[in-house]
Parts: sequence; C-alpha cells; structure tokens
Amino acid sequence: MSHRKTVTGTLALSVFTAVLGSLEFGYNIGVINAPQKIIEEDYNATWVHRYGEPIPTGTLTSLWSLSVAIFSIGGMLSSFCVGFLLVCVSSRRKAMLINNLFAFIGGSMMGMSKLCRSFEMMILGRFIIGAYCGLASGLTPMYVGEIAPTSLRGALGTLHQLAIVTGILIAQILGLESLLGSEDLWPVLLGLTVVPTVLQMGLLPFCPESPRFLYIVRCQEHHAKSGLRRLTGRQEVGDMLAEMKEEKRRMDMERKVSIPELFRSPLYRQPIVISILLQLSQQLSGVNAIFYYSTSIFMKAGVQSPVYATIGAGAVNCAFTVVSLFLIERMGRRTLHMLGLGGMCMCAVIMTIALALLDSVPGMSYISMLAIFGFVAFFEVGPGPIPWFFVAELFSQGPRPAAMAVAGCSNWTANFIIGMCFQYVADLCGPYVFLIFAALLLFFLIFTFFRVPETRGKTFDQIAANFHQHSAGGMMDMDIDMDMDKPSTELDYLGEESIN
Ligand SMILES: *[C@@H]1O[C@H](CO)[C@@H](O)[C@H](O)[C@H]1NC(C)=O
Repeated sequence: MSHRKTVTGTLALSVFTAVLGSLEFGYNIGVINAPQKIIEEDYNATWVHRYGEPIPTGTLTSLWSLSVAIFSIGGMLSSFCVGFLLVCVSSRRKAMLINNLFAFIGGSMMGMSKLCRSFEMMILGRFIIGAYCGLASGLTPMYVGEIAPTSLRGALGTLHQLAIVTGILIAQILGLESLLGSEDLWPVLLGLTVVPTVLQMGLLPFCPESPRFLYIVRCQEHHAKSGLRRLTGRQEVGDMLAEMKEEKRRMDMERKVSIPELFRSPLYRQPIVISILLQLSQQLSGVNAIFYYSTSIFMKAGVQSPVYATIGAGAVNCAFTVVSLFLIERMGRRTLHMLGLGGMCMCAVIMTIALALLDSVPGMSYISMLAIFGFVAFFEVGPGPIPWFFVAELFSQGPRPAAMAVAGCSNWTANFIIGMCFQYVADLCGPYVFLIFAALLLFFLIFTFFRVPETRGKTFDQIAANFHQHSAGGMMDMDIDMDMDKPSTELDYLGEESIN
C-alpha cells in the first residue's frame, strides 16, 4: 500500500496548478471587505466628476451592494454551465485554460476601473470574476479528484479548500490600509487577481490531462496509461487502470444523465439530495456571515482592534484547514462533517449567550471572540472542505458533470441568499441571529447522521454500489435491465463525446 501514497512531482505540480483557481476564488471573496470605504469614496468622486454633485447615500449603498453581490450572481450562473463547458471543449485542461480568460478580463477591468473613472467597469469585472469562480469551483475539485490516487483523494481534495482560505487570508492581509488597501493602491489590490491566472496559464501545459477522463470518456487507453505513469511515477499502473476499467464498464451500462434525470431516477435521487444538502450545510452554517461581517461583530463585542481579530479568524481558518487535511484520511468524511457541524452549533450557542450578556457580565467580549474562532475552526474541520469533493465521490463519470452543476449552483444560490439577507435578519434579531444558524446546523447534523454514507478509501464504484443496494431493490433491477435493452443509447453517448 505504501507505494501508492507517493506524491510525485507531476502530481504535486498538477494539483498546485489546479488549486491556483481556488486561491483566486478565495482572494476575490476576501478582497472586497477591507477597502470598502475607500472604494466608496472613489465612486463618490466619480459621481462628482460626472454630474458635478456628491452621490446620494442610497445610490452609493446600492452601487456598493451590487459590486459585492454580483459576484455571487456570476458564480451562480456559471457554476450551472460547468457541464456544458466540459462537453464543448472535451478536456479538463482546456476548460481550465479557457476559464482563465474570464479571470484575466475581470481582474483587468477591476484594476483599471479607477483609472477609467468607471464603477460600471468595477461591477462588470466583479460579475466576470464571479463567473470565473463559479466555473473554477466545479473544475478544480473535479480535476484534482480525477488525477488523485484513491488513497490520497481526500487529502488532495482538501487542498481546494486550503487554497480558498489562503486566498481569503492573503486578501485580508494585503487589504490592510498600510499595505494595498489605501486610496492610491486599491486598484493594484484588485488587479492582483490576474497574477494566479497568468501563473496557471503558464503551468497548465505541463500538467497531464486527467487519465480517468481520457480513459473512461475518450477511450484513449494509451494516453491514460502514460498520464498515470507520470502522475504515479511508476511503470506498473495496472491496478489503477483496472479500477478505471471497472468504472468504465459500469458507466457504459449507464445512460447519459441529464439534470432532471438526476432527480427522477431512483439511482441518483438519494446521492443528489445528499450533495445538495451538504452544499447547503456549508453555506447556511453562517460562516460567510462571519466573514462578511466579522469586523463589525468584533467591534460590537468590544474587541480592541477588530481588523486584526478578523485577520486572526482568517489565520484560524487556514490553520484548521491544514488540520483537516491530516484528519480526513484517518477519520473519514462523515465523522469529520458531523464533528464540524456539532462544534459549530455549540460555538453559535456560546456566541449568542456571550453577545447577549455582553453588557452585564465582564470578559464576555473574549468569550465571544473565542467562540467565533471556534466556529471558524470547526467549519474547516468538516463543512468547509468536505462538500466540494464529496459530490465528485458520490457520482461516477456518467452523472458527475450534471451532479457537479447542481451542487455548485445550490452552493452559490445559498451563498447569494446569505449575502443578501443576513444584514436584514441580523437587524431584526440582534444577537440572537446565530441561534437560527445553530438550529440549521443541528438539522444538518441529524441529516448527516442518518443519510450520509462514508466514502473514505472506497473506489467510485463501491460508493455507487452502496446506493444501489440501499434504494428500493425491485425498481433498481428493472432500471438496469432497461438500460441493457438499449445499447443504442450507449453508442450515442460515446459517439457524442468522441466527436468533440
Ligand atoms: C461625496 O463627496 C463629497 C465631497 O466631494 C462629500 O461632501 C460627500 O459627503 C460625499 N458623499 C458620500 C455619500 O460619501
């Protein structure tokens, strides 16, 4: 077994290159918070320059909210198109390469918006970069999941999340006013977005195409083999090829799966519901509420330098993603996800109590700060990294693109809803707002306990078989029989793929 755990140079390079997309994603989540006031002043200056009068406060608020929220709209739309893009270009690598154009255009537009005195450019740039992130959030875990050997899939899958949180932390630090978050330098802060993009474009040609994809979808055994050799550093790749062969054999019996079919077919209904709920458990846990509003929460809690407390939360975020990297192949996804949800739920309750007692009991500001750090830490243990690659593990090649699209779209939709609604709900409920998240977390915990299977160390096939056994037996058999009666659909599928 031990030789299967080797991480070769090629594997490391390919994973690094792929997760540059995730770094970009995190950077753009974090970058917009710190320089808010300064960019708003520039919007105002632009308005004065154009119309000769200061911007009305309401207009400024709308323009700013739009600049922030349009990112999620871009992500929501594009995450739905991941499958479409993959069918069009029929190569994981090329899809990532094309996606970089979005980041390049979006980053340049944001970087130039001050120079051109145009907040429209800034908003459009945020939309385009959001579209990039939506595609990247589908493409990166898919590529990493496919090139990783089974024994390392979980650990390498976590790197996607690690890169996201590193991106957030980098953006928080660079956004300090003494660094790039100043009046003159904020365009540089936003324009830096193009750096990982250029790096990824330069490195992608040196990464192998996903062997799993080459073999299973495009039937290029020879290319798949040489890719496997490069990735594993071994001449003998028979066992991995055999695993893919088995998956291909099963897949050839599967019909091509569309998104509506995911919900209709009893084969996929259970895994897709699990995928969606796991994505929702990530977003509706309330972690983004912390990341969007941590500074003001810390301020209200009486913490002395809220900006640094926010950076502290970012650092805790990073540290615990590393912890989960080491835990994930030892403890299993299901256990960690439940541990994370349970811990977050507890921290949310403690936070609520601390915020409610803030004025009457001394020392509560520290308790609430620790509770927030704990909340973030538990997030990274489970609900942060796990949903992203869990979806890729629950589905075999046939339904995977459609499943990724559905999962990505539900994640972004929940993200958008939290971004839009949290402020209103928080105004309404005061310190008790986190009790809502605690209740949601409890629900997701119970759901995970009863419904989510363990996938650690299992091949894609074993995972799929697990669901087949558990769904209604009689109906299943009928479905499979029907598929075998229709060899033409199989040919259709393969034909379509090879044309591209
Ligand atoms: C916009 O700038 C002007 C000065 O040019 C200032 O008086 C006004 O308060 C600013 N408006 C906002 C909403 O910041």
